[in-house]
Amino acid sequence: MFNFWDRLSQEERKHLLKQACQIDLTRLKDASREALGQAGSVNDSDADLEPAPWIPLPSGVDSTRLWEEAEGIGEELLNAGKIAAFTVAGGQGTRLGFNGPKGAFPITPVSQKSLFQLFAEKIKAAQMRFEKPIMWFLMTSEINDEATKKFFIDNDNFGLSSSRVRFLRQGMMPAICPTGEIILERPDRISMNPDGHGGFFRAVVDNGVAEEMRNAGIETISYFQVDNPLAPFLEPAFLGFHSMSGSEMSSRAAHKKGPDEKVGVFCKRNGNLSVIEYSDLPDNLARLRSEDGDLVFNAGNLAMHAIDLAFVERIGKNKGIYKLPYHSAKKKVPTVDAQGCQVTPKKPNGIKLETFVFDAIPLAKSPCIVEVCRADAFSPVKNAEGDDSIATCRSDQLRKYARWVKEAGGELTIDETGEPNISFEITPQFADNQDEFTRRWRDISNPCIEDGLILD
Ligand code: UTP
Repeated sequence: MFNFWDRLSQEERKHLLKQACQIDLTRLKDASREALGQAGSVNDSDADLEPAPWIPLPSGVDSTRLWEEAEGIGEELLNAGKIAAFTVAGGQGTRLGFNGPKGAFPITPVSQKSLFQLFAEKIKAAQMRFEKPIMWFLMTSEINDEATKKFFIDNDNFGLSSSRVRFLRQGMMPAICPTGEIILERPDRISMNPDGHGGFFRAVVDNGVAEEMRNAGIETISYFQVDNPLAPFLEPAFLGFHSMSGSEMSSRAAHKKGPDEKVGVFCKRNGNLSVIEYSDLPDNLARLRSEDGDLVFNAGNLAMHAIDLAFVERIGKNKGIYKLPYHSAKKKVPTVDAQGCQVTPKKPNGIKLETFVFDAIPLAKSPCIVEVCRADAFSPVKNAEGDDSIATCRSDQLRKYARWVKEAGGELTIDETGEPNISFEITPQFADNQDEFTRRWRDISNPCIEDGLILD
């Protein structure tokens, strides 16, 4: 790190030292050993993998009754102010390539509201339904913290009280080279990255947020990612199932689109409920089908979790068995040569070290998985084009609205994929779930949908 120390100015030295002080060397040593394969990582080809059990969507009288019971319990938790919304928004958003925090990306099909605004509106709509206000926590990172806060200030917190919107910064980890040394991006600058969405646990503990939540009476965090505008993060039934099953960490799942979809899958690994990444699931298992033709490993991880605060604190303290493993990703990391001149590598030269939130599941008591209607709940915007892109996300929003309208008895022309031939929008204030939409729709005299309409 200090190869070029002698030739740095006072200002540059100060900057380099500030960065160096952020690095926890013990943690980095453990992380590099794991990432460089010296610590005995899990080998999934040897692991005993089985599909995970999950609570399916209601389909008959008994299961409908169970879902209604869960919904009632979830509503009680929300009425009592025991649930906080939590968005992880500290990532780099490299694939989307948007100039700004990902949450500021305009996503709704007509009014082009940002992801942040949409989530704020969902929270405001929920606040009309439940007795206690809802706190919203957002995890940012050094790379987007300032811009994210500014976006909220410029937009007046989207009408939410500033005392109920809280930002916390996640930690950063240096990029390392395959021999384990820290990479310099410039003679006075270490190449640092956010430490993965698993950094959420530590960020909650280190920033004093756990204490703040406890003082506010919050018991469970509803965790979701910034890039999924459909996330139903305040749906009572899921929160109710979490509580009924005595789970410390529960997750939402939906049927995978197909064997090649790039989502992690819930499974039992050597008997423990876990998520296996798509790239680690052996191909024969990824393609294995049951007699009815369904994929056997079918429960896709949608990155929505209910996590008890006490469990977050246990993982965040990173002691004993309550530690998340580090994952490594090979990347092209801009660096300097021996003379300190900048080099843009043509092939991967560095390793990014990250922890993942779902690696906490096997450490949780009674983890539980609950199905959600995918078309209502999941359409991440990861890429500028192609799969999980701006275009697919926009179409998925329109399909969802069109389905709600048609099932409520409205008239609309749709194509064979369910996408309408016009653009319109249903705001969370109008309805944030299908039942609510149907009720509101039936209250309108002569309801009709036209191009550009915003149902507000
Ligand atoms: P992704 O893994 O999709 O990464 O994050 P990303 O940073 O958004 O995008 P790419 O991979 O650079 O293109 C999934 C979610 O986890 C959050 C992201 O902000 C997103 O909500 N995340 C990811 C963090 O909060 N911190 C991280 O260190 C990584």
